[in-house]
Amino acid sequence: MKKIIVFISALFVISFSAFAQGKKFAMPIIGEEAPKFSAESTNGKLKFPKDFGESWKIIFSHPKDFTPVCSSELLELALKQDEFKALNTELIVLSTDILQQHIDWKMALEEISYKKNNPVKINFPLVADNEMLISRKYGMLHEPYSDGRNVRAVFIIDPENIVRSIQYYPNEIGRNIDEILRTLYAMQTVAKNKNTLTPANWEPGGDVLIPHLNHEDKKKLAEGDNEVYQEAWFMTFKKIDIE
Ligand code: BEZ
Repeated sequence: MKKIIVFISALFVISFSAFAQGKKFAMPIIGEEAPKFSAESTNGKLKFPKDFGESWKIIFSHPKDFTPVCSSELLELALKQDEFKALNTELIVLSTDILQQHIDWKMALEEISYKKNNPVKINFPLVADNEMLISRKYGMLHEPYSDGRNVRAVFIIDPENIVRSIQYYPNEIGRNIDEILRTLYAMQTVAKNKNTLTPANWEPGGDVLIPHLNHEDKKKLAEGDNEVYQEAWFMTFKKIDIE
């Protein structure tokens, strides 16, 4: 009898801990609605996604203000902020630091002539998630590695507030801002051009892939028109107009 009680208790402890583990980490996945939040930021109080209208949105988390890798990322983002704007995309930077720390860091960054560029004003908000409410909702805390700080996460969210792309990077590795821009261009390109996909290493202006050939594509292919061409019967490329 004693053995049975010990066995049942062990089973209970194991299942409870598995349940607790399961609850510890949650993240929105691709295709899901991005969690709503409101928070204080360097641009005032923010309501997400309400304040961002019909824009694409990028939530960019970092582990800690006043650290070298994070500073380089923020400066590169600031240098490219007009390109994001031109793609109808709003940037939201987030960490678990307090608002005053964000304000001080932002001021310090705005004085740097990074890589011989003129100092640049940071127009996007730095969100203070010191209570970790948003970080938990978005799965940015990868404990125990995180140690109460966010990992480097990038969520690209479309105008309908659906998560379209997720990246996670470790603390030691700075992200490639051009890759984030490239992903955004690619997603906007396939959204604009029905029945298209982008191949590996695609760059804006490059040919796209088409998973299904319509009557017109088949005709162009048969005629040897170089607008539609194949690398194999299962890999068809198509040239598209760039606006
Ligand atoms: C950095 O941004 O340099 C950094 C932040 C947290 C841990 C390690 C490096």
